[in-house]
Amino acid sequence: MNTPTTAAITAVAGWVPEDRLTNFDLEKMVDTNDEWIRTRTGIEERRILKGEGLATSDMVAPAVLELCKKRGITPLDIDCLIVATVTPDMVFPSTANIVCDKIGATNAWGFDLAAACSGFLFALTTGATYIESGRYKKVVVVGADKMSAIIDYTDRNTCILFGDGAACVLLEPNNEGYGVKDSILRTDGSGRPFLHMKAGGSWKPASMETVANREHFAYQEGQSVFKFAVKGMADVSAELMERNNLKAEDVAWLVPHQANLRIIDATANRMGLPKEKVMINISKYGNTTAATIPLCLWEWENQLKKGDNVVLAAFGGGFTWGATWIKWAYDGK
Ligand code: UT7
Repeated sequence: MNTPTTAAITAVAGWVPEDRLTNFDLEKMVDTNDEWIRTRTGIEERRILKGEGLATSDMVAPAVLELCKKRGITPLDIDCLIVATVTPDMVFPSTANIVCDKIGATNAWGFDLAAACSGFLFALTTGATYIESGRYKKVVVVGADKMSAIIDYTDRNTCILFGDGAACVLLEPNNEGYGVKDSILRTDGSGRPFLHMKAGGSWKPASMETVANREHFAYQEGQSVFKFAVKGMADVSAELMERNNLKAEDVAWLVPHQANLRIIDATANRMGLPKEKVMINISKYGNTTAATIPLCLWEWENQLKKGDNVVLAAFGGGFTWGATWIKWAYDGK
């Protein structure tokens, strides 16, 4: 019997800017303090992309080049490149287009996918279907955000949370059952008042007034999002385990979106997983939106083993949320 083709992750890469913004730096910018930030969120510092003319694509390009190098391919081998982001270089063309140009991926097509903090999971599931269908052999899935471009550094409710970064995975066909096994993805647009950017879209195009009202920054009602996030991420992860008959002892790793340590803990508890099985790097990078999950995979790649059951889980603006089960396809070095 033929095993159906699955989409296996065959390499992971990432890129973060050098510049760090610490809690102590933020103490000098807004009315906050290191203790509040650490205990309420788990964040200690974030990376910030500084420099004239640098955009999300400038983080993605080196990450994808590293990915190709690791796998021993060139950008010309890429069939399709999907960039999950809410901070594209520009409204159009897509960041994927710009990245393909910058790295010379002239055989690839691609597009951006906007699902906020769940963007990587949505893009991964989308990319996996292209592989499963047999249409493409090498799909690059990226999660990248330059959140510093849309953060109001006078608003202590949001500026302490976010950072910049990019990471990506390569998807290739597998016929031994490794790769993306199942995904549950959800959206609920009625959650939009709690987390959004008010202006700059077709609803409220940019004007002197929108700029004066600081409506081009991310707006969040933290407490409301927190409540939905705790429930959404834990529920969907438990549902994914149940429908695939995965017990806590079967799961090697939980890779949660890094928005708040308390949300991560709630999800791990619901899944019955001890802390040692949870990838957590929020203290170093803060919330990099679409990049958090692939950045974790990048950092923990060497600890992952062929056959590991890995559960990815996210919740974000939209609302969007979801969980994905992956059977890891290779041993870390
Ligand atoms: O990734 C996309 C999805 N986003 C999320 O998952 C984020 C979800 N939300 C959160 O993580 C949390 O709601 C926050 C970290 C944003 C806020 O934590 P919280 O425990 O919900 O705090 P809060 O908003 O209820 O504020 C508690 C207090 C308030 O003071 P009073 O009213 O009790 O006097 C705030 O004014 O903390 C105050 N506060 C701060 N104090 C120091 C709010 N921000 C700060 C700050 N520094 N930066």
